[in-house]
Amino acid sequence: MANTNSILADAAGKEASTLSLYRLLEPEVLANPYPLYRQLRTEDPVHWDPFLHAWVVTRYADVVNVLSNFSANRTYTPEQLDSMGLAGISPIAKVMVQQMLFMDAPMHTRLRGLCAVAFTPQRVEVMRAHIQEIADSLIDQVLESGRMEVIADFAAPLPAIVIAEMLGIPASDHVELKNWSADFAEMLGNFQHNPNRTQSVLRSLENLIEYFGRMIAELRKKPRPGLVNALIEAQVDGDRLSEEEIIANSILTMVGGQETTTNLIANGILTLLRNPAQLKQLRDDPSIIQVAVEELLRYESPSQYTGRLAHEDVELGGKKIRKRQAVLAVMGAANRDPEKFADPDHLDLTRKDNRHVAFGWGAHFCFGAPLARIEGQIAFATILRRLSNLQLEPSPLVWRDNLGLRGLTALQVSFTASRN
Ligand code: HEM
Repeated sequence: MANTNSILADAAGKEASTLSLYRLLEPEVLANPYPLYRQLRTEDPVHWDPFLHAWVVTRYADVVNVLSNFSANRTYTPEQLDSMGLAGISPIAKVMVQQMLFMDAPMHTRLRGLCAVAFTPQRVEVMRAHIQEIADSLIDQVLESGRMEVIADFAAPLPAIVIAEMLGIPASDHVELKNWSADFAEMLGNFQHNPNRTQSVLRSLENLIEYFGRMIAELRKKPRPGLVNALIEAQVDGDRLSEEEIIANSILTMVGGQETTTNLIANGILTLLRNPAQLKQLRDDPSIIQVAVEELLRYESPSQYTGRLAHEDVELGGKKIRKRQAVLAVMGAANRDPEKFADPDHLDLTRKDNRHVAFGWGAHFCFGAPLARIEGQIAFATILRRLSNLQLEPSPLVWRDNLGLRGLTALQVSFTASRN
């Protein structure tokens, strides 16, 4: 009997580990997570992952439900971390608990309302010509060499410069801001905690706090347009944001606006290179660019999953989720759900009715989406217009070990300069 029990336990353990999102730590699963997502969606769409101690939700309808109805207030407070013996990372938690991404209404509504005014479609549309100039000047710098590393030469600096300008801080600081942001993004995009990285993440966070503190002091003396200034001046019912709130949400906007957009551009170029017929289709008919960017967002979503907590005991997909249990909504899987998208593993740059969840859903729907969309449209259109014979260089593709924010470490390509 004991033997039968242990065989059953082994089988259950094996099944659980086969379906665990921890398998993203295996390089081949990280390179192509979609078979794992498909298995989860078909075998156990609301799956208790004992390794992550969280529910993993992969069907489109369930992901939308979780993003609409579950609590975003999910970071440990510094006090909780102290009691868990993780006091070392409480400076990070102290910033995160003040960021809108981790809040529910009414605090979330108040903060988001103040920040979102700077990113309306009308506000970012006026940036279009300037973003085009930045994209062209980055391409100018690599044109003669006939090759580029898409991320370092283009996909990283483009959003870094744009977001610095939108925040109203010097664009010339974009290189160090980018490095600090990448460190902080490790905390936003990951479920695995890597103790070896804690010290550098903490140092980068200190640098970011110090940097924005200095900017706020400068802007108070000499205001310049931009999000940071808007937050300094914002008043809700006579109430102003504290300096800590301004810093925390400037950091969130900066980090949110960089990693993801970099990954949209680089993942998108890789996807096009892997699908030469679609690349040619877009090159031949640039008028489809808006719809094409939506499809690239769906197909290789830069933000693969996000977390929530259950407000109360609730049933989802026939499973009982208990109050305060963690739920991971896997947008990367929902975006390949055949119940929602016909032939979901096929890249269709003119796909109709493409209501993907790459920017999330509901109250926390990405408020940078209008900006990210314009950056993506300009990036792909400029690369295809100015570079011909775009080819992948024969170097191995290494995916970043930030599991939530899907992107490559580098993407080497060669090309010839277009004449037109
Ligand atoms: C392709 C690029 C982008 C992708 C894929 C993306 C994805 C997302 C997703 C999935 C969420 C929701 C997370 C959740 O519900 O837990 C989100 C929220 C957010 N994004 Fe983006 N994002 C992108 C670009 C940007 C840009 C350019 C900015 C800044 C201008 C930005 C700033 C934010 C902020 C501040 C939030 C939090 C909103 C809230 O909590 O109400 N993102 N983003």
